[in-house]
This record gives sequence, structure tokens and C-alpha cells, in this order.
Amino acid sequence: MAQLSPLEKVGLIFVGFLLLYIVKNVLSVVYNFVIGPALNKVDYKLKGKWALVTGCTDGIGKQYARELAARGCDIVLVSRSLDKLKATAEEIEKDFKVSTKVIQADFSEDSKIYDHISKEIEGLEIGTLVNNVGVSYSYPEYFLDIPEWDKTVSTLIRANIVSVTNMTHLILPGMVKRGKGVVINIGSASSVIPSPLLTVYAATKAYVDKFTEGIEMEYSKQGIIIQCVQPGFVCSNMSGIRRSTFFAPTAKDFVKSAINLVGTTAVTTGYLPHSAFVNILNTIYESSNSFAVWLVTRSMENSRRKAMKKYKKQ
Ligand SMILES: NC(=O)c1ccc[n+]([C@@H]2O[C@H](COP(=O)([O-])OP(=O)(O)OC[C@H]3O[C@@H](n4cnc5c(N)ncnc54)[C@H](OP(=O)(O)O)[C@@H]3O)[C@@H](O)[C@H]2O)c1
Repeated sequence: MAQLSPLEKVGLIFVGFLLLYIVKNVLSVVYNFVIGPALNKVDYKLKGKWALVTGCTDGIGKQYARELAARGCDIVLVSRSLDKLKATAEEIEKDFKVSTKVIQADFSEDSKIYDHISKEIEGLEIGTLVNNVGVSYSYPEYFLDIPEWDKTVSTLIRANIVSVTNMTHLILPGMVKRGKGVVINIGSASSVIPSPLLTVYAATKAYVDKFTEGIEMEYSKQGIIIQCVQPGFVCSNMSGIRRSTFFAPTAKDFVKSAINLVGTTAVTTGYLPHSAFVNILNTIYESSNSFAVWLVTRSMENSRRKAMKKYKKQ
């Protein structure tokens, strides 16, 4: 075999590391999305008779409520609009023959709502908690120009941060006592990618990431499964996306994928194309920070322009 020059040796080592990196990533995707979910199936009913979902009358929350009912759990539905709560409860009872309980609560209000929720759930064995409720701005906007600044920022902090913290504080003690339970906190991919014009929203979701990480470190050893889900775009009222695409699934398809990853990954986008999107964007960001920021800012400004046009027309 011909002798290799020093440059060729460096090249070979580089190719070797590149191959290792690719193989490691492919194996991790296969484990996280295929092998892990097949091996680590969670029996939600065994975790406790009831599952509680916040922000559950639409979008991602409603689909979590339906998926948990399909797995045999009785469902506590906590959301803002009583008529939508009643309709969702009726639909779930009819489709899955389980019991439901509705609790009306507006998470943009002050912390008195948690006394009300606490009384309503007294004595219920809640084995699964989905902290799903979350709000964003009506459209992407620069920090100083967020419409109704005080009210919007306070609502984002209360609905996205205080809700997750207080609901976990209410329900985790029962899980710890029983030595089992599942807590699923819905964050957002916006907290792990560049997110100009969504600054406060993305920052509240970064809290959800860090909070979940800490709680997982503290309580997983007591038999509780704790997961942070960081979705990319999903069709819903909040995203304003109506037609599904490869990167923006329906809420139903998204939750069907995400719920199977509980017990395998503590942090996940929940959906393979979202993981690909986050990885691609962050690779661009790592190689050219300013290009990635320019790209995202341009796309956000376009959405902002379109939304403002629509609002002005209305
Ligand atoms: N959709 C996406 O692209 C996307 C991406 C990343 C992360 N997420 C996260 O996923 C979660 C769900 O989002 P989604 O898109 O499914 O939202 P959605 O379709 O707009 O549904 C929101 C649900 O929360 C309820 N809700 C809203 N404000 C509330 C409040 N102040 N108090 C109580 N309930 C309230 C709504 O009830 P009413 O109908 O009564 O208002 C509805 O049931 C959020 O945490 C969001 O940040 C979504």
C-alpha cells in the first residue's frame, strides 16, 4: 500500500470522524423515533386513573386529551371557554367511553385560579399531567412594538410560565406519593432556534425547557417520567396554519407522534421533520450566525407584514 502523505492522513482522520458523527446521529434518530418507542411503551392508565390537560379544547391540547382517553384514562379538561370545554368533554366521552371532568380557568388571570383548580381536583388520582396551555402574540412583532404591551407580556408570562410551575406544584406531590406518574410540558422549538420577533414567547418557552430539565433531574428517580416537547410549526389557531405540510403537521398527527416518545426522550421536538428542521437551522446558525438571523428575521417580517395587512382590513 502506498505511503500516505501527512495531509492525506489528516484527511482520512477527518472523514473517519465525519462518518462517526453521521452514524451516531442516524442511530440516535432511529433509537429516539423507532426503537425507543417500541421498547418503552407507557401504560398511562397504570400511572393513575385520571389525566389532566390544560388548554385542551383545541389544537395540540385537545389531541393529547383524545390520545390519553384512547389509552383508557379518564380526563380532566382545564381551559378557558366553558362551552368549548363541555363540547370537548361530550366528544371524548362518546368516542372513548371514559369519564371526564371540566374545570374552567383562565390562565392569564392571577394565581387565585390555582386555589379553584386545587379544590376541583381534590381526591382525584392524576397519573398524567399535560401542561399544554400557552399563548403567543397575534403576529410576530418587535419587542417594543408588541400590541397592548403590558397586558400581552403579563398574559404570556402567566399562561406560559406560571401555569406550568403551579400546575406541576399542585399535581406532582400525588405522583411522588404513589411513586409513578407522567408530566409532559409543551415548550416550543422557538426556544432552541433563533427567534427574532417572538422574543418574549421564545423566552417563556426557554423557562419551560429549563424548568422541565430540573424537575426531571429531581423527580425521575422517584418513578416519574418527565418530558419537555418542543414542537415546530403545527396547524392550529395559534400558528394560524390551516393546511398541513411536511414541516407543519395537523395537531392530530403531531400528537400521535409525540405521545409515543414519552419514556424514551426527556427532551424532544416530538416529530421527526421538526427535529430535522431544528438541526438544519442550527447548523446554518453555527456556520453563519448572521446569515441564519437574516433568514429568520426576513421570514418573520414577511409574516408580520401579511398579518398586519389582514388586521388593517378587518
Ligand atoms: N401550534 C404551533 O405551531 C405550536 C408550536 C410550538 C409550540 N406550541 C405550543 O403548543 C401549545 C398549544 O398550542 P396550540 O397551537 O395547540 O394552541 P391553540 O390551538 O390556540 O389552542 C389553545 C388552547 O388553549 C386554550 N387557552 C388559550 N388561552 C388560554 C387561557 N388564557 N386560559 C385557559 N386556556 C387557554 C384555548 O382555549 P380557548 O379556545 O377557550 O381559548 C385552547 O383550548 C402551546 O403551549 C404552544 O405554545 C404550538
